[in-house]
Amino acid sequence: MSKENNILVCDDDETLCYLLKEQLLEEGFAVQTVYDGKDAIESVKSKNYDVLLLDLNMKEVSGEEVLKFVTGYTSSLQVIILTAQSDIKKAINCIKLGAYDFISKPYDFEDLILTINRAIEHKNLLVKTTILEEQINKNIHSKIIGSSKEIQKIITLANKSAQSESNVLIEGETGTGKELLAEYVHRNSLRKDKPFVVINCASLPDQLIESELFGHEKGAFTDAKSAKQGLVEIADGGTLFLDEIGEMSITLQPKILRFLESGEYRRIGGVSNLTSDVRVIGATNRNLLDETESKNFRRDLLFRLNVITLTLPPLRERKGDILQLANHFLEVKSPIRSPKRLSSAAEILLSNYTFPGNVRELDHIIERAIIFASDDTIKPEDLNLPSSDKKDQSTDATSEHTEIVSMEEIEKKHIENALNYFKWDRAKTAYKLGISIKTLYSKIKKYSLTQ
Ligand SMILES: Nc1ncnc2c1ncn2[C@@H]1O[C@H](COP(=O)(O)OP(=O)(O)OP(=O)(O)O)[C@@H](O)[C@H]1O
Ligand SMILES: [Mg+2]
Repeated sequence: MSKENNILVCDDDETLCYLLKEQLLEEGFAVQTVYDGKDAIESVKSKNYDVLLLDLNMKEVSGEEVLKFVTGYTSSLQVIILTAQSDIKKAINCIKLGAYDFISKPYDFEDLILTINRAIEHKNLLVKTTILEEQINKNIHSKIIGSSKEIQKIITLANKSAQSESNVLIEGETGTGKELLAEYVHRNSLRKDKPFVVINCASLPDQLIESELFGHEKGAFTDAKSAKQGLVEIADGGTLFLDEIGEMSITLQPKILRFLESGEYRRIGGVSNLTSDVRVIGATNRNLLDETESKNFRRDLLFRLNVITLTLPPLRERKGDILQLANHFLEVKSPIRSPKRLSSAAEILLSNYTFPGNVRELDHIIERAIIFASDDTIKPEDLNLPSSDKKDQSTDATSEHTEIVSMEEIEKKHIENALNYFKWDRAKTAYKLGISIKTLYSKIKKYSLTQ
């Protein structure tokens, strides 16, 4: 068990608290003890604990009252009731109220440790699930934002192509929304109730792409211990999105071409021809016509694919969408209770920025700014735009004095803001910052950060 897990013990029996603390410290937990319910509630408010060991019979504020407070306050803190044999009924009632488990006194230490470890595992799973749910919800509700005439034109074309069965090629710089648009076409087509299957042609070596796409028979190659369905089979009736198709090797291209022409394919190691009915949407950030000139991409494959071509303009060419998108990301990503807004100087700065990473970059800039901002208003310095761009584009309103600080200062502030944002939930903070919880702890120590 790692040292990072925090346990709060609340029992009016001070000797028991002392003993438990000694034992738990030896097991590598961080432990704090309190002797009445009121202090337990205060401690829960001021620090993120993983587990609360809670006595039921305390004088002023009872264990049950503490439990009720905790379950209303947080869903991640796991409460284990410590109870006398005579109070088992009460303890069972506590489980109904949301306690994780109970242990009867005198407790068996091994039993207790086991229960604590299970409670921590449960908590970690809960946190992970919440994060996943957030991601899923975000994707389900993703819609194409933008009222510029450029994006509206693309949406009109996308709607038209959704009604047809032709293959589609989506062109655009990185982060312009190619995958989002592909999904949009699928969702608005007659195939919407069938799968939308994505394969990224740049992320896998040739043979793997082929076996992912078309599947393989048992024994087709050393690792093929059993037969496997290909994605084209899974996508049957739906849409297959070939992302970064410009990266597909010239040797694999004829197989894709054959499939596009006839709907036929063979599993690797297979002898019979199979068929699947999929509509293909390809996406690329390259100019495929140029690629055909340099013989990196087959001309016949390009013409099969680009029956309809949708070209997403870079964000700097549809400046009208920048603030609308920024406000959309602010709305989606701000904490519910403290929605953030952009200062007018920040708005001007964003409107003049060139966004080499397009919409994805804007999304990340806003996400970071929400964490950086010390109050509800996002200021130019919270946006942390690359300095050359800031300088090139600066206007009177944006030339607010920005003090140059060291990288360490930036890191400290960034971590501190992230911790505050997640109410010092270290697991969530570390996850969001993309660092291990261990690294987060060493940074907290290094910068002497406190709640
Ligand atoms: N018009 C838009 N409205 C709302 N969100 C958008 C829009 N365009 C892009 N996004 C968001 O920006 C991010 C990048 O979009 P997406 O992955 O579709 O881009 P891409 O062109 O496929 O990027 P890459 O070339 O890097 O694969 C996603 O989170 C997407 O939801
Ligand atoms: Mg993409």
